[in-house]
Amino acid sequence: MYRDRAGYAGYRKIGYEFVEGNQMTQRILLTGGAGYIGSHTYVALVEAGYDVVILDNFSNAARDVPDRLAQLVNHNVQVIDADVLDRVKLDQVFADTRFDAVVHFAAFKAVGESVKEPLAYMQNNIGGLVTLMQAMAAAGVFRLVFSSSASVYGNNAQLPIPETAELSFGNPYGHSKLVCEQIIEQTVASDPRWTVGVLRYFNPVGAHESGLIGEDPAGIPDNLMPFIAKVAAGELPHISVFGGDYPTPDGTGVRDYIHVCDLADGHVLSVQSLFREGKGHLVNLGTGRGYSVLEMIAAYAKASGRDIPYQISPRRPGDAAASYADPRLAKDLIGFGAKRDLEDMCRSSWAWIVRHAQKTGA
Ligand code: NAD
Ligand code: UD1
Repeated sequence: MYRDRAGYAGYRKIGYEFVEGNQMTQRILLTGGAGYIGSHTYVALVEAGYDVVILDNFSNAARDVPDRLAQLVNHNVQVIDADVLDRVKLDQVFADTRFDAVVHFAAFKAVGESVKEPLAYMQNNIGGLVTLMQAMAAAGVFRLVFSSSASVYGNNAQLPIPETAELSFGNPYGHSKLVCEQIIEQTVASDPRWTVGVLRYFNPVGAHESGLIGEDPAGIPDNLMPFIAKVAAGELPHISVFGGDYPTPDGTGVRDYIHVCDLADGHVLSVQSLFREGKGHLVNLGTGRGYSVLEMIAAYAKASGRDIPYQISPRRPGDAAASYADPRLAKDLIGFGAKRDLEDMCRSSWAWIVRHAQKTGA
């Protein structure tokens, strides 16, 4: 049953198939659901009529995220404080509650950290997936949506990047995601009961329009948009633009930035496709449109009304000149198409920064 609690018109635009009121509500377990993408997906799934339970160990999420989600969806948020590496706990979770599908976000995601601590990344990202899939299989739950990444394309020369592009990796984080995809492929081949949606995200940015949830990286951010946001907020003096001599229109790196709420909608469509089609899919989630670093800085300066000083610096090792998705397969298989534009991405990010700073006194 669709509940138009907060009037977020955007959720209706993508044409969800709302769960019928007279059928049993489908229940979804969101591992890592208190994190950046997971929290936005929580809202989208609840708005689409699913009963959603978050499982998170809060290793990279604020403890008050469930309270903020509760304000957004207007009811209590069910949260299980647990680690996906804890098989005993997972067995208990699946024994206590019937789940129809699992969306698996829980993982470590910082590229630089993965280079310093590869074993921790392999354990959490690969070990977490294996433990979760074993617990699901033991409980008879065979529908899974998996967070993969455009990092599995490595430093790809083919543009736009189709799902059939050659796969590689440039760091332990990317390696862990590629191994996870292979594990999923082998598991699906071994047992036809599995239906899995593998979603390769490009560059998620922005925040929910309410300003209540968003990305909150600890310390100095590695990724572009959170860094720009901190410069706009006056917390950092300037941004270094990594490379001004790439073979791109203005010489700076080009990426496919996608609004996190579009990404969240993609998860709803993926879950619905698993239920409807009874078979899995592997798709890119991007817009198909690339923006340069300088275009991002200019758009954010406009949205925030702040100066964003920058200086051109040497290239970052391992960076591609340009990366953007071929989004057609996602459209064909699950009906996904990004709706929000660059202005929406920057405006929502800034609204989150301003509201969050007020709350934390930062
Ligand atoms: P995030 O760190 O904000 O969210 C991950 C969540 O998982 C956090 O709440 C963390 O506390 C939780 N978690 C981590 N390990 C756990 C464990 N062992 N048990 C239980 N909970 C655990 O990250 P995000 O940006 O929301 O990313 C979500 C997923 O999407 C990750 O799998 C990430 O690799 C993938 N991804 C992210 C991006 C991106 O740019 N943000 C791009 C491509 C793919
Ligand atoms: C990085 C990771 C990738 C990961 C993705 C999303 C690397 C090599 N790749 O990709 O594996 O999936 O994040 O988490 O780390 N830039 C600057 N100045 C900055 C920061 C970034 O100029 O301070 C530039 C980069 O050179 C790039 C663009 O901004 O051209 C986007 O960078 P970033 O947000 O880190 O994303 P990716 O490079 O796509």
